[in-house]
Amino acid sequence: MDNKRIIVPLDVPDAEAALALAARLDSKLCRVKVGKELFVAAGPAVVARLQERGFEVFLDLKFHDIPNTVAGACRAAARLGVWMMNVHASGGEAMLRAAREAIETVARPPLLIAVTILTSLADEDLAQVGFAGSLMDNVERLARLARASGMDGVVCSAREAPLIRKAAGEDFILVTPGIRLKTDDNDDQARTVTPVEAVRLGAHYLVIGRSITKAADPAATLAAIRASIEEGAAA
Ligand code: C5P
Repeated sequence: MDNKRIIVPLDVPDAEAALALAARLDSKLCRVKVGKELFVAAGPAVVARLQERGFEVFLDLKFHDIPNTVAGACRAAARLGVWMMNVHASGGEAMLRAAREAIETVARPPLLIAVTILTSLADEDLAQVGFAGSLMDNVERLARLARASGMDGVVCSAREAPLIRKAAGEDFILVTPGIRLKTDDNDDQARTVTPVEAVRLGAHYLVIGRSITKAADPAATLAAIRASIEEGAAA
């Protein structure tokens, strides 16, 4: 299994803060995620600086637009040499296929992941925006669509992982945020699981933010989480 299953989001406002946080982590033991706030503020240059420091980058920009526009954005992202990137599955089959085709134009394309339903949405929110069926029905349908349209995997809650593995197959990559340690506050994440639980439920990669970034010693916390996952796997 991949030795760098933990992805640490650099949820900070500028390049300086991102590089300072990255300096407290070991690029051999984790990957980092650059999201909308940091990318809008600091652009491709911050991605390049993280890569120079040995980090593989998940570019979390969740593209959702007409196929031609998404294809252009995906091609540009792939050229940055990122390790993983993502789009919204609800952009539809043509958009997903255009994204896949666009990234295949680089020698080493990134992993291409889809967002099914944002974890901030509940059943009533889905009804309000016109999605029929329950949250889980929609997650399952969009995961199947993502797989059939050439995506490598989806972002999902660990609680959705068993259902998606069944629907889309064991090798479909599952990236799960919403992770908390037993000792943490939950912050604004409503339904959380521990790293060991997430792996047991079938997650391949874990996005773990504040549990690591707000710790007094992020590297030590990362090491402890890695050890707990290994012990969990051996148990
Ligand atoms: O600090 P925390 O562990 O909650 O950070 C989680 C990270 O995962 C953040 O970067 C957040 O934007 C992202 N994320 C999430 N839920 C999703 C998708 C992404 O929390 N459904």
